[in-house]
Amino acid sequence: MARVMGLLPCLILFMCLYTVVVVGAYSQLSNGLKSRSDFPTGFVFGAGSSAYQIEGAAAEDGRKPSIWDTYTHAGKVVDKGTGDIASDQYHHYKEDVKLMHDMGLDAYRFSFSWNRLILDGHGAINPKGLNYYNNLINELVSYGIEPHVTLSHLDIPQSLQDEYDGYLNPKFIKDFTAYADICFKEFGDRVKHWITFNEPNIQTIVGNDVGILPPSRCSYPFGVNCSIGNSTTEPYIGAHTILLSHASAAQLYREKYQRIQRGQIGITILAMWIEPVSDSPKDIAAKQRMLDFHLGWFLDPLVYGDYPATMRNIVGSRLPLFTEYDSNQLKNSCDFIGLNHYSALLVEDLPTTFSKYGSDYYDDISVKGFFSKSLYNIESTYPWDSRSLQRMLEYVKVKYKNPAVVIHENGLPAYGENCNAQALNDTERIEYLQSYIGSLLLSIRNGSDVRGYFVWSFMDCFELVGGYRFYYGLYAVDFNDSKRKRYPRMSAKWFTSFLAKEKNKEEISSY
Ligand SMILES: *[C@@H]1O[C@H](CO)[C@@H](O)[C@H](O)[C@H]1NC(C)=O
Ligand SMILES: *[C@@H]1O[C@H](CO)[C@@H](O)[C@H](O)[C@H]1NC(C)=O
Ligand SMILES: *[C@@H]1O[C@H](CO)[C@@H](O)[C@H](O)[C@H]1NC(C)=O
Ligand SMILES: *[C@@H]1O[C@H](CO)[C@@H](O)[C@H](O)[C@H]1NC(C)=O
Ligand SMILES: *[C@@H]1O[C@H](CO)[C@@H](O)[C@H](O)[C@H]1NC(C)=O
Repeated sequence: MARVMGLLPCLILFMCLYTVVVVGAYSQLSNGLKSRSDFPTGFVFGAGSSAYQIEGAAAEDGRKPSIWDTYTHAGKVVDKGTGDIASDQYHHYKEDVKLMHDMGLDAYRFSFSWNRLILDGHGAINPKGLNYYNNLINELVSYGIEPHVTLSHLDIPQSLQDEYDGYLNPKFIKDFTAYADICFKEFGDRVKHWITFNEPNIQTIVGNDVGILPPSRCSYPFGVNCSIGNSTTEPYIGAHTILLSHASAAQLYREKYQRIQRGQIGITILAMWIEPVSDSPKDIAAKQRMLDFHLGWFLDPLVYGDYPATMRNIVGSRLPLFTEYDSNQLKNSCDFIGLNHYSALLVEDLPTTFSKYGSDYYDDISVKGFFSKSLYNIESTYPWDSRSLQRMLEYVKVKYKNPAVVIHENGLPAYGENCNAQALNDTERIEYLQSYIGSLLLSIRNGSDVRGYFVWSFMDCFELVGGYRFYYGLYAVDFNDSKRKRYPRMSAKWFTSFLAKEKNKEEISSY
C-alpha cells in the first residue's frame, strides 16, 4: 500500500538497513572523545540483548511459546528465521559473561522470557526458568557486572494472546503486575535496574496497526493481510494498557520492594530524532506532530500524566482517557526513562485524507517520513549523524523537565555475511559508536541527565526485523555452526580499549 510505503519502512529501516563502508568521512564529526574517564563517575557502559533474540532453547525446560514463536514459525520473517536456537545464550551464558567481563562492561541489558518463567503468562513459576535466570544473574554478579533486566521485550506469552488478546485487554495489567511481582521477589536482591517494557511505541504500531510483526493484527485498508484486528483503535488501546501495566508494576515495586532492595525502575521507548524537510510552517508543524506521536505518546503521560494535546485533538474519542488516579500513578512511575536511539527521520507534511474506513496512527500523524543520505547536509553515503542524539536529548531535557535518562540501545546494522574478514573488520561501526558516544558526552556536558549507555547488540542475534540478514553485534556469532562460535569484531576491541580505565589515549584514537 502506498501509504504504508511512507513512514513505516523508515521505522523499519533504522533497525535493519544499509552496509556501506565509509572510512574517514566523519573526521568533521570528531568530538574529542578519548575514553570513558571523560564521563561522570558512576556512568554505566554496557551492551544489550533480549530473550527471544539471543537465548534459543525455545522448547527446552518447559518453555512455552510467546507471540514471537508463533509468528516466526508461520514463516513470516524475510529469511524464514526463528529464535529456536538464535545465539544459544541459554547454553553459552558462562562463556558470554566471561566475554563481557573481558570487554570491561559495567552492565549487561537483557530480558526475561515471561513464558519461560510463567509458562501460561499467569500461574506458578517454572523452576527451570527460575534456575536459568538465577544462574545468569549470579554469573554476572560474580564478575561485578550489573544486570539491567527488561520484563517484556515485545514477547508476550502466546497463552495471554489466545486467552484475551494480550495487551488489548485490561486483564493484562493484573497478569503483568503479578509477573513483575515474582521477578522482584526472586531476583530483586541482585537486580537493581528494571525496565518494564521495551519499545511499546513501536510494538503497538507495527503489531496492531500495520500488523507486520506479532501479534499481526490490523484492519483493511491500513494493514497488510490481517484477518483480525482494528488499526484505527488498537494501537491506542494497546499503548494505554501497556502504560497502565508499567505504572502498576512500578507502584508495586515502590510499595513492596524499593526501600529494601534499593533498585530503580523505568520503561524504554524508541526515540528517533525528527527533522522537517523544509523550514515551511507546515513541515515544522509536521515535525512537532511526529515528535508528539512518537515520543510524547509515552513521555507526556509519564511526566505530565496525560497524552499530548495534539494527540487528544487529532485522535479524539479513539484515544483512551486516564483517571486522576492513573495520571498520578504514571507521573511517579519512572526512576529513569530508557531511550533507544539509532538515527533521525526527516518528515514532510502530508495532507490528511480521511477515508470511509476512518483513520489509523499514520493517517493521524499525516507526515511522510524518510531517511536522508545527507541529514544536516553532511556529505555521506550513510543515513546517520550523531548530532541526532544530541538534538533528541536536548528536546527531552527541555520538554520533559530533564528526566534521568539511559540510552538503552544504539548501534549500527550491517547486512549479509556476518563472519567473514570484512564483517569482522567493522571500522564503520567503530566510527558510528565513537561518534555517538562523543555526542552523548556533549549532551551530558550541556546538562542532560544521562546515566548510562548500552550498545545494541552485545553479539549477533535473531533481529526482530530481518532475522539473520542483519547484524549489530560487537561479537559475531556463526549461525551455521551448531556450537554457535563467537568471534570478536574490531568494534569489540575498540570498545574494550575505550572502556579500559587506565589506557593509552593514542592507542584508543587509532584503535
Ligand atoms: C498478502 O496476501 C497476498 C495474497 O495471499 C500475497 O500475495 C502477498 O504476498 C501477501 N503480502 C504480505 C506482505 O504478506
Ligand atoms: C474499529 O473500532 C471502531 C470503534 O469501536 C469501530 O467504529 C470500527 O468499525 C472498527 N473497525 C473494524 C474494522 O472493526
Ligand atoms: C552460512 O550458510 C549460508 C548458506 O549455506 C552461506 O551462504 C553462508 O556463507 C554461511 N555463513 C558462514 C558464516 O559460514
Ligand atoms: C580493516 O579495514 C580498514 C579499512 O578498510 C583497513 O585499513 C585495515 O587494514 C583493515 N584491518 C584488518 C585487520 O583487516
Ligand atoms: C545547551 O543547553 C541550552 C539550554 O537548554 C540550550 O539553549 C542549547 O541549545 C544547548 N546546546 C546544544 C548544542 O544542544
